[in-house]
Amino acid sequence: HEADAHRTDLMTITRHVLNEQSRNPESRGDFTILLSHIVLGCKFVASAVNKAGLAKLIGLAGETNGEEQKKLDVLSNEVFIKALVSSGRTCVLVSEEDEEATFVDPKLRGKYCVCFDPLDGSSNIDCGVSIGTIFGIYMIKDKDNVTLEDVLQPGKNMLAAGYCMYGSSCTLVLSSGNGVNGFTLDPSLGEFILTHPDIKIPKKGKIYSVNEGNARNWDVPTETFVEKCKYPKDGSSPKSLRYIGSMVADVHRTLLYGGVFLYPADEKNPNGKLRVLYEVFPMSYLMEQAGGQSFTGKERALDLVPTKIHERSPIFLGSYDDVEEIKALYAEQA
Ligand code: AHG
Ligand code: MN
Ligand code: MN
Ligand code: MN
Repeated sequence: HEADAHRTDLMTITRHVLNEQSRNPESRGDFTILLSHIVLGCKFVASAVNKAGLAKLIGLAGETNGEEQKKLDVLSNEVFIKALVSSGRTCVLVSEEDEEATFVDPKLRGKYCVCFDPLDGSSNIDCGVSIGTIFGIYMIKDKDNVTLEDVLQPGKNMLAAGYCMYGSSCTLVLSSGNGVNGFTLDPSLGEFILTHPDIKIPKKGKIYSVNEGNARNWDVPTETFVEKCKYPKDGSSPKSLRYIGSMVADVHRTLLYGGVFLYPADEKNPNGKLRVLYEVFPMSYLMEQAGGQSFTGKERALDLVPTKIHERSPIFLGSYDDVEEIKALYAEQA
Protein backbone atom coordinates (compact mmCIF):
# COMPACT_ATOMS: atom_id res chain seq x y z
CA HIS A 1 0.00 0.00 0.00
CA GLU A 2 1.01 3.58 -0.76
CA ALA A 3 0.02 4.70 2.74
CA ASP A 4 1.98 1.89 4.35
CA ALA A 5 5.04 2.82 2.37
CA HIS A 6 4.89 6.34 3.75
CA ARG A 7 4.61 5.07 7.27
CA THR A 8 7.95 3.34 6.97
CA ASP A 9 9.67 5.55 4.41
CA LEU A 10 9.58 8.85 6.23
CA MET A 11 9.99 12.04 4.23
CA THR A 12 11.56 14.33 6.81
CA ILE A 13 11.95 18.01 6.09
CA THR A 14 15.73 17.61 5.79
CA ARG A 15 15.37 14.79 3.29
CA HIS A 16 12.85 16.82 1.32
CA VAL A 17 15.05 19.92 1.18
CA LEU A 18 18.12 17.86 0.26
CA ASN A 19 16.14 16.30 -2.61
CA GLU A 20 15.02 19.72 -3.82
CA GLN A 21 18.50 21.20 -3.55
CA SER A 22 20.15 18.31 -5.34
CA ARG A 23 18.48 19.52 -8.53
CA ASN A 24 20.77 22.53 -8.37
CA PRO A 25 24.34 21.47 -9.28
CA GLU A 26 25.80 24.52 -7.51
CA SER A 27 24.17 23.64 -4.21
CA ARG A 28 26.70 22.74 -1.54
CA GLY A 29 24.28 22.03 1.25
CA ASP A 30 24.35 25.55 2.71
CA PHE A 31 20.61 26.05 2.43
CA THR A 32 19.92 22.66 4.02
CA ILE A 33 22.19 23.57 6.92
CA LEU A 34 20.55 26.98 7.34
CA LEU A 35 17.13 25.39 7.31
CA SER A 36 18.06 22.76 9.87
CA HIS A 37 19.00 25.58 12.25
CA ILE A 38 15.64 27.27 11.66
CA VAL A 39 13.93 23.93 12.31
CA LEU A 40 15.82 23.61 15.57
CA GLY A 41 14.53 27.02 16.64
CA CYS A 42 10.98 25.97 15.77
CA LYS A 43 11.27 22.77 17.80
CA PHE A 44 12.55 24.73 20.76
CA VAL A 45 9.68 27.21 20.57
CA ALA A 46 7.15 24.38 20.09
CA SER A 47 8.39 22.77 23.27
CA ALA A 48 8.50 26.07 25.19
CA VAL A 49 4.96 26.94 24.06
CA ASN A 50 3.72 23.58 25.29
CA LYS A 51 5.21 24.22 28.69
CA ALA A 52 4.20 27.88 28.89
CA GLY A 53 1.01 27.30 30.87
CA LEU A 54 2.55 24.65 33.08
CA ALA A 55 5.55 26.76 33.97
CA LYS A 56 3.24 29.39 35.37
CA LEU A 57 1.12 26.87 37.23
CA ILE A 58 4.03 25.41 39.15
CA GLY A 59 5.66 28.77 39.73
CA LEU A 60 8.51 28.47 37.24
CA ALA A 61 7.51 31.77 35.72
CA GLY A 62 8.35 33.61 38.92
CA GLU A 63 11.88 34.33 40.02
CA THR A 64 14.50 31.58 39.81
CA ASN A 65 17.56 32.73 41.73
CA GLY A 66 16.53 36.34 41.44
CA GLU A 67 16.19 36.29 37.68
CA GLU A 68 12.77 36.81 36.13
CA GLN A 69 11.72 34.09 33.71
CA LYS A 70 12.05 35.45 30.19
CA LYS A 71 8.88 36.16 28.27
CA LEU A 72 8.25 33.61 25.57
CA ASP A 73 8.71 36.07 22.69
CA VAL A 74 12.03 37.33 24.06
CA LEU A 75 13.20 33.78 24.68
CA SER A 76 12.17 32.66 21.18
CA ASN A 77 14.04 35.58 19.66
CA GLU A 78 17.24 34.69 21.52
CA VAL A 79 17.00 31.08 20.43
CA PHE A 80 16.52 31.97 16.76
CA ILE A 81 19.29 34.59 16.72
CA LYS A 82 21.75 32.14 18.27
CA ALA A 83 20.70 29.23 16.05
CA LEU A 84 20.98 31.39 12.92
CA VAL A 85 24.34 32.90 13.83
CA SER A 86 25.81 29.52 14.80
CA SER A 87 24.69 27.99 11.51
CA GLY A 88 27.60 29.89 9.95
CA ARG A 89 25.39 30.50 6.93
CA THR A 90 23.94 33.95 7.69
CA CYS A 91 25.35 37.46 7.46
CA VAL A 92 22.47 39.69 8.48
CA LEU A 93 19.34 39.05 10.54
CA VAL A 94 16.21 41.14 10.98
CA SER A 95 13.87 40.21 13.83
CA GLU A 96 10.58 41.74 14.86
CA GLU A 97 11.88 41.77 18.41
CA ASP A 98 15.06 43.77 17.68
CA GLU A 99 15.03 47.42 16.72
CA GLU A 100 18.30 47.08 14.80
CA ALA A 101 19.40 44.44 12.31
CA THR A 102 22.05 41.98 13.55
CA PHE A 103 25.23 41.85 11.47
CA VAL A 104 26.93 38.52 12.00
CA ASP A 105 30.59 38.46 13.04
CA PRO A 106 32.69 38.16 9.85
CA LYS A 107 34.22 34.89 11.10
CA LEU A 108 30.78 33.26 11.19
CA ARG A 109 29.37 34.81 8.05
CA GLY A 110 27.53 32.99 5.29
CA LYS A 111 25.60 34.24 2.28
CA TYR A 112 22.03 34.27 3.61
CA CYS A 113 19.94 37.00 5.13
CA VAL A 114 17.02 35.91 7.31
CA CYS A 115 14.10 38.17 8.28
CA PHE A 116 11.86 36.66 10.93
CA ASP A 117 9.11 37.11 13.46
CA PRO A 118 10.14 34.70 16.22
CA LEU A 119 6.74 34.62 17.91
CA ASP A 120 3.79 35.94 15.99
CA GLY A 121 0.40 36.31 17.62
CA SER A 122 1.84 37.04 21.04
CA SER A 123 -1.51 38.30 22.39
CA ASN A 124 -2.70 34.68 22.09
CA ILE A 125 0.07 33.11 24.22
CA ASP A 126 -1.62 33.35 27.58
CA CYS A 127 -4.87 31.75 26.43
CA GLY A 128 -3.30 28.82 24.59
CA VAL A 129 -4.45 29.86 21.12
CA SER A 130 -2.27 29.11 18.07
CA ILE A 131 0.83 31.24 17.53
CA GLY A 132 3.75 30.90 15.14
CA THR A 133 7.12 31.84 13.71
CA ILE A 134 7.50 33.44 10.27
CA PHE A 135 10.69 33.68 8.18
CA GLY A 136 11.91 34.91 4.81
CA ILE A 137 15.33 34.14 3.33
CA TYR A 138 17.41 36.17 0.86
CA MET A 139 20.80 35.59 -0.64
CA ILE A 140 23.30 38.43 -0.23
CA LYS A 141 25.55 39.45 -3.12
CA ASP A 142 28.71 40.10 -1.19
CA LYS A 143 28.81 38.81 2.36
CA ASP A 144 31.96 40.74 3.17
CA ASN A 145 30.36 44.08 2.31
CA VAL A 146 26.86 43.70 3.65
CA THR A 147 24.78 46.78 4.45
CA LEU A 148 21.18 47.50 5.37
CA GLU A 149 20.52 48.08 1.66
CA ASP A 150 20.98 44.34 1.11
CA VAL A 151 18.00 43.68 3.37
CA LEU A 152 15.72 46.26 1.78
CA GLN A 153 14.92 44.21 -1.29
CA PRO A 154 11.51 43.54 -2.85
CA GLY A 155 9.87 40.33 -1.66
CA LYS A 156 10.09 38.76 -5.11
CA ASN A 157 13.85 38.42 -4.55
CA MET A 158 13.30 36.01 -1.69
CA LEU A 159 14.82 32.58 -2.07
CA ALA A 160 12.58 30.84 0.40
CA ALA A 161 9.97 31.58 3.02
CA GLY A 162 7.95 29.72 5.58
CA TYR A 163 6.20 29.65 8.89
CA CYS A 164 5.77 27.26 11.76
CA MET A 165 2.43 27.15 13.54
CA TYR A 166 2.29 26.05 17.16
CA GLY A 167 -1.30 24.85 17.22
CA SER A 168 -3.20 21.69 17.99
CA SER A 169 -0.32 20.19 16.06
CA CYS A 170 2.95 21.83 15.10
CA THR A 171 3.11 22.45 11.36
CA LEU A 172 5.92 23.93 9.31
CA VAL A 173 5.01 25.27 5.88
CA LEU A 174 7.86 25.99 3.49
CA SER A 175 8.53 27.10 -0.06
CA SER A 176 11.87 27.51 -1.76
CA GLY A 177 10.35 28.56 -5.05
CA ASN A 178 9.07 25.15 -6.08
CA GLY A 179 5.56 25.12 -4.67
CA VAL A 180 4.54 24.87 -1.03
CA ASN A 181 4.89 21.89 1.29
CA GLY A 182 3.65 21.31 4.84
CA PHE A 183 5.42 19.22 7.48
CA THR A 184 4.00 18.13 10.82
CA LEU A 185 6.18 17.63 13.87
CA ASP A 186 6.09 14.04 15.09
CA PRO A 187 6.88 14.64 18.76
CA SER A 188 7.94 11.04 19.31
CA LEU A 189 10.60 11.38 16.61
CA GLY A 190 11.34 15.08 17.02
CA GLU A 191 11.16 15.31 13.23
CA PHE A 192 8.99 17.28 10.83
CA ILE A 193 7.39 14.80 8.41
CA LEU A 194 5.91 15.76 5.04
CA THR A 195 2.13 15.64 5.56
CA HIS A 196 0.88 18.30 3.12
CA PRO A 197 2.72 17.89 -0.20
CA ASP A 198 2.28 20.57 -2.86
CA ILE A 199 -0.33 22.75 -1.16
CA LYS A 200 -2.58 24.66 -3.58
CA ILE A 201 -5.02 27.27 -2.28
CA PRO A 202 -8.61 26.91 -3.62
CA LYS A 203 -9.22 29.34 -6.49
CA LYS A 204 -12.10 30.93 -4.60
CA GLY A 205 -12.97 30.69 -0.92
CA LYS A 206 -15.91 30.89 1.46
CA ILE A 207 -14.14 32.63 4.34
CA TYR A 208 -12.95 36.17 5.02
CA SER A 209 -10.64 37.03 7.88
CA VAL A 210 -10.20 40.54 9.26
CA ASN A 211 -10.29 42.50 12.52
CA GLU A 212 -13.71 44.01 11.95
CA GLY A 213 -13.40 46.16 15.06
CA ASN A 214 -11.43 48.58 12.90
CA ALA A 215 -14.26 48.93 10.35
CA ARG A 216 -15.16 52.54 11.16
CA ASN A 217 -11.74 53.68 9.95
CA TRP A 218 -11.51 51.59 6.75
CA ASP A 219 -11.16 52.98 3.24
CA VAL A 220 -13.98 52.55 0.69
CA PRO A 221 -12.63 49.47 -1.20
CA THR A 222 -12.12 47.52 2.04
CA GLU A 223 -15.55 48.52 3.30
CA THR A 224 -17.17 47.56 -0.01
CA PHE A 225 -15.38 44.22 -0.13
CA VAL A 226 -16.40 43.17 3.38
CA GLU A 227 -19.95 44.32 2.71
CA LYS A 228 -19.97 42.07 -0.37
CA CYS A 229 -18.69 39.15 1.73
CA LYS A 230 -21.71 39.52 4.00
CA TYR A 231 -24.36 40.60 1.51
CA PRO A 232 -23.32 39.25 -1.90
CA LYS A 233 -25.32 40.77 -4.72
CA ASP A 234 -24.71 38.01 -7.27
CA GLY A 235 -26.94 35.43 -5.56
CA SER A 236 -24.00 33.53 -4.00
CA SER A 237 -23.98 32.63 -0.29
CA PRO A 238 -22.35 34.99 2.19
CA LYS A 239 -18.81 34.18 3.30
CA SER A 240 -18.06 33.04 6.87
CA LEU A 241 -15.92 35.20 9.13
CA ARG A 242 -12.95 33.62 10.92
CA TYR A 243 -10.38 35.70 12.78
CA ILE A 244 -7.89 34.31 15.27
CA GLY A 245 -5.60 37.33 15.62
CA SER A 246 -2.45 35.31 14.94
CA MET A 247 -1.36 35.96 11.38
CA VAL A 248 0.23 32.53 11.11
CA ALA A 249 -2.96 30.74 12.10
CA ASP A 250 -5.21 32.96 9.98
CA VAL A 251 -2.97 32.57 6.94
CA HIS A 252 -2.58 28.81 7.48
CA ARG A 253 -6.34 28.35 7.47
CA THR A 254 -6.63 30.58 4.40
CA LEU A 255 -3.99 28.52 2.59
CA LEU A 256 -5.72 25.21 3.31
CA TYR A 257 -9.41 26.19 3.09
CA GLY A 258 -9.23 29.20 0.77
CA GLY A 259 -10.67 32.69 1.20
CA VAL A 260 -8.98 35.96 2.09
CA PHE A 261 -7.03 37.36 4.98
CA LEU A 262 -6.77 41.12 5.17
CA TYR A 263 -5.09 43.66 7.40
CA PRO A 264 -6.03 46.83 5.56
CA ALA A 265 -4.99 50.42 6.06
CA ASP A 266 -7.25 52.52 8.19
CA GLU A 267 -7.52 56.19 8.99
CA LYS A 268 -5.32 55.88 12.05
CA ASN A 269 -2.82 53.45 10.49
CA PRO A 270 -2.31 54.38 6.85
CA ASN A 271 0.10 51.45 6.44
CA GLY A 272 -1.97 48.93 8.33
CA LYS A 273 -0.25 46.96 11.08
CA LEU A 274 1.70 44.07 9.61
CA ARG A 275 5.40 44.37 8.90
CA VAL A 276 6.74 44.01 5.38
CA LEU A 277 9.97 42.06 5.84
CA TYR A 278 8.89 39.29 8.18
CA GLU A 279 5.08 39.17 7.94
CA VAL A 280 3.84 40.49 4.59
CA PHE A 281 6.65 39.19 2.33
CA PRO A 282 6.96 35.58 3.54
CA MET A 283 3.19 35.08 3.60
CA SER A 284 2.79 36.69 0.16
CA TYR A 285 5.53 34.47 -1.24
CA LEU A 286 3.80 31.34 0.10
CA MET A 287 0.42 32.50 -1.24
CA GLU A 288 1.78 33.03 -4.74
CA GLN A 289 3.64 29.73 -4.65
CA ALA A 290 0.35 28.04 -3.73
CA GLY A 291 -1.52 29.67 -6.62
CA GLY A 292 -3.06 32.56 -4.69
CA GLN A 293 -2.33 36.29 -4.75
CA SER A 294 -1.22 39.03 -2.42
CA PHE A 295 -1.97 42.72 -2.88
CA THR A 296 -1.17 45.85 -0.86
CA GLY A 297 -4.06 47.99 -2.10
CA LYS A 298 -1.63 49.55 -4.61
CA GLU A 299 0.52 46.78 -6.06
CA ARG A 300 1.52 43.14 -5.95
CA ALA A 301 2.88 42.77 -2.42
CA LEU A 302 6.13 41.11 -3.56
CA ASP A 303 6.95 44.13 -5.77
CA LEU A 304 7.07 46.48 -2.80
CA VAL A 305 10.53 47.87 -2.02
CA PRO A 306 10.83 48.56 1.72
CA THR A 307 12.74 51.63 2.86
CA LYS A 308 13.21 50.62 6.49
CA ILE A 309 13.43 47.23 8.19
CA HIS A 310 10.29 47.51 10.32
CA GLU A 311 8.15 49.09 7.59
CA ARG A 312 4.45 48.19 7.55
CA SER A 313 2.03 47.65 4.68
CA PRO A 314 -1.66 46.95 4.21
CA ILE A 315 -2.19 43.41 2.97
CA PHE A 316 -4.91 41.42 1.18
CA LEU A 317 -3.96 37.83 0.49
CA GLY A 318 -5.56 34.50 -0.34
CA SER A 319 -7.54 32.78 -3.09
CA TYR A 320 -6.82 34.06 -6.58
CA ASP A 321 -10.39 35.08 -7.45
CA ASP A 322 -11.12 36.73 -4.12
CA VAL A 323 -8.00 38.90 -4.28
CA GLU A 324 -8.88 39.70 -7.90
CA GLU A 325 -12.15 41.16 -6.60
CA ILE A 326 -10.31 43.36 -4.12
CA LYS A 327 -7.93 44.57 -6.84
CA ALA A 328 -10.93 45.52 -8.98
CA LEU A 329 -12.42 47.58 -6.15
CA TYR A 330 -9.17 49.51 -5.70
CA ALA A 331 -8.88 50.04 -9.46
CA GLU A 332 -12.43 51.43 -9.54
CA GLN A 333 -11.60 53.95 -6.86
CA ALA A 334 -8.37 55.13 -8.50
P1 AHG B 1 3.00 40.04 16.87
O1 AHG B 1 2.38 39.18 17.91
O2 AHG B 1 4.21 39.41 16.24
O3 AHG B 1 3.29 41.44 17.33
O4 AHG B 1 1.99 40.16 15.62
C1 AHG B 1 0.61 40.27 15.85
C2 AHG B 1 -0.07 40.55 14.55
C3 AHG B 1 -0.50 39.34 13.76
O5 AHG B 1 -0.17 38.11 14.27
C4 AHG B 1 -2.00 39.46 13.69
O6 AHG B 1 -2.46 39.16 12.40
C5 AHG B 1 -2.29 40.87 14.07
O7 AHG B 1 -1.23 41.31 14.84
C6 AHG B 1 -3.56 41.04 14.82
O8 AHG B 1 -3.78 42.38 15.05
P2 AHG B 1 -5.12 42.94 15.73
O9 AHG B 1 -5.06 42.51 17.16
O10 AHG B 1 -5.02 44.41 15.52
O11 AHG B 1 -6.29 42.33 15.00
MN1 MN C 1 3.86 39.23 14.14
MN1 MN D 1 6.18 38.74 17.06
MN1 MN E 1 5.36 41.87 18.80
